[in-house]
Amino acid sequence: MGDLASKVEEIRSEAEEKLRSATTEKELLEIKGKYFGRKGALSEILRSLPTLPVEERRVVGQKANETRKFLESLFDESLERIKEEARKRKAAASFVDVTLPGGMLPPGHRHPITATMEEINRVFSRLGFTIFGGPDIETDYYNFEALNIPKEHPARDMQDTFYVENLDRDILLRTHTSPIQIRVMEKLKPPVRVIAPGTVYRCDSDVTHSPMFHQVEGFAVDRDITFADLKGVLTEFCALMFGQDRGVRFRPSYFPFTEPSAEVDIECVICGGEGCRVCSETGWLEILGCGMIDPEVFRYVGYDPEEFSGFAFGMGVERIAMLRHGIGDIRLFFENDLRFLTQF
Ligand code: FA5
Ligand code: MG
Repeated sequence: MGDLASKVEEIRSEAEEKLRSATTEKELLEIKGKYFGRKGALSEILRSLPTLPVEERRVVGQKANETRKFLESLFDESLERIKEEARKRKAAASFVDVTLPGGMLPPGHRHPITATMEEINRVFSRLGFTIFGGPDIETDYYNFEALNIPKEHPARDMQDTFYVENLDRDILLRTHTSPIQIRVMEKLKPPVRVIAPGTVYRCDSDVTHSPMFHQVEGFAVDRDITFADLKGVLTEFCALMFGQDRGVRFRPSYFPFTEPSAEVDIECVICGGEGCRVCSETGWLEILGCGMIDPEVFRYVGYDPEEFSGFAFGMGVERIAMLRHGIGDIRLFFENDLRFLTQF
């Protein structure tokens, strides 16, 4: 009756081979269940011992117990091996070779609008102007009221904007940088010579109008400032920015906060003055509005209009960048297409 003893041998060699080649914990548990768990093949043999002749019972019992011990410790060993392999795989996956040379990031550069704005700031700094700023989110008072644009005034239609809801339409995204005139004049006494760059917002969109764009405001207040000073400063600015040969014209206009008022146009660089889509077939592109500060505005900030006079202007930065670089569509600035941006 060497049958049972050889059955035990068979279980041992089969189970051993499987335990050694198992690759998951689940596999190990299945092997254990089949061969040496509580309901496995070995247990079955041990349970049948009482029915065996004494001599065989001793031999088979001993062999079966030894085998179970052996397999159990091999089970623990295999479990440890599998866990160690998993740890190594994880470490290999997250391995960083710190001795490799660093990856090269291509050097970036400033956006053409930022660069143009800085160039404008530089020119006016040289002419003795100091730079100030103001908030993008403004009150109705600074954006319109104190600039002599009362509620319901038709001039508001030219600058439709984005209002912050539920606040009585008193808070809005500024439509121009002119509110900074009021904020600065409330704080400083004349003489003042200030420029104020910033982002502004309007309900506008076409090849020369963007709903978000940039302006640089400028103003000077002192005794005896005249329209000749305004014209001199802006003519000098245009010459520095666009070169002496580029056509510049002052055109009478209207702003509630300046009197008299003008707009300045630069000869269109896209068509060279012939007329095209960008200049609406006129040969000129408007870059700024300007004028002598209205005495009504001085009254809002507590300046005496009998003693002081001043000029102000507000220029479109995108328009200036378009003219300097010959760009035919304002929307190119904001699409963030690298094929466009890397050209500057
Ligand atoms: C103004 O905004 C006045 N605050 C300018 C001013 C300041 C006049 C001080 C007098 C004294 P206007 O709406 O014309 O004016 O805008 C000024 C410039 O901003 C324009 O000449 C144009 O160059 C630019 N601009 C206006 N709207 C847009 C737009 N939607 N997208 C791009 N540029 C614009
Ligand atoms: Mg205008």
